[in-house]
Amino acid sequence: MTKPLFPPGRPALCLAPMAGFTDRPFRQLCLEYGADLVTSEMVSAKGLFYQSKKTRALYFAKPEDAPFCVQLFGSEPAVLAQAVRILENDLGGQLLAIDLNMGCPAPKIAGNGDGSALMLNPSLAGRIIEAAVKNAHVPVSVKFRKGWDAAHVNAEAFARVCEASGAAFLTIHGRTREQLYSGAADRACMAAVKRAVSIPVLANGDVHDAKSALETLRETGCDGVMIGRGALGNPFVFAEIRAALEGKDDSPPSECERRELALRHARMALSEKGDHAMIELRKHLAFYLRGSRDAAKIRARINACKTLKELEQIWG
Ligand SMILES: Cc1cc2nc3c(=O)[nH]c(=O)nc-3n(C[C@H](O)[C@H](O)[C@H](O)COP(=O)(O)O)c2cc1C
Repeated sequence: MTKPLFPPGRPALCLAPMAGFTDRPFRQLCLEYGADLVTSEMVSAKGLFYQSKKTRALYFAKPEDAPFCVQLFGSEPAVLAQAVRILENDLGGQLLAIDLNMGCPAPKIAGNGDGSALMLNPSLAGRIIEAAVKNAHVPVSVKFRKGWDAAHVNAEAFARVCEASGAAFLTIHGRTREQLYSGAADRACMAAVKRAVSIPVLANGDVHDAKSALETLRETGCDGVMIGRGALGNPFVFAEIRAALEGKDDSPPSECERRELALRHARMALSEKGDHAMIELRKHLAFYLRGSRDAAKIRARINACKTLKELEQIWG
């Protein structure tokens, strides 16, 4: 039997795609702590189209890994169609769903007509979704924002276009492109998107603990929450929210538990990628240190480490 996309009978807890962060080790840890659905970082459809090995490495998985979602970005329907075929061929049964990025605000993405720029061109967005859906055997979802800027708030209408074009579910980040990551995510906008369509909707933005998750679910009526920054250095957040959904209290992880998980994360990442991955690992380790005693001092020592052995000597 194939795994259902969302857990039956309770809201889905999902890890947001985050460029430079949601690689295999981090996705694995989030699944272990209770995430229902995890997504790779965004992958360039054009990169796949041109057979870039570097692009393909972004969704590296091992055969024993649980199925996961891959996010694609791009703005040419034919390129997206081909990227979907390559992705399905590479990942087979490990591909749970394909998410289309229509929310990225970064100038190098949106400036190219990709990501959030597609919110300014719903008819092109619709054609991209149709092309992906036509070529995919797995569900295709869309992640988008409240709109381009305060003068172009069109999340509800955009959600309807996504649904009509064949999207299986949606994620709404309750900020405009202009806001980037500042200001509070707009839960009323998430609620309006949920009401506008009949496919499942995930609420995204500012969910970082059980309290914010329960409030977001209550205020938006969404089918689940997608967590980004709140999961960095904190895969425990999924266990905390799951416990709260069951009416239980989950005691926060101790400093020692955090350090142990950080070291496990480091061992997973370095054994997979080699010691040269230490540089990209540092940013994850800095998040595990958030709020702990002597964080700045330990961070400086960790940043000087070049191997797992050195890291274990400082922190083990
Ligand atoms: C470092 C970083 C990288 C991100 N990369 C992506 C990405 O590749 N694709 C995407 O759709 N959103 C990306 N986002 C946005 C998040 O998925 C999410 O929508 C946003 O952070 C709001 O959720 P949060 O408040 O839970 O962090 C990124 C965010 C951050 C902080």
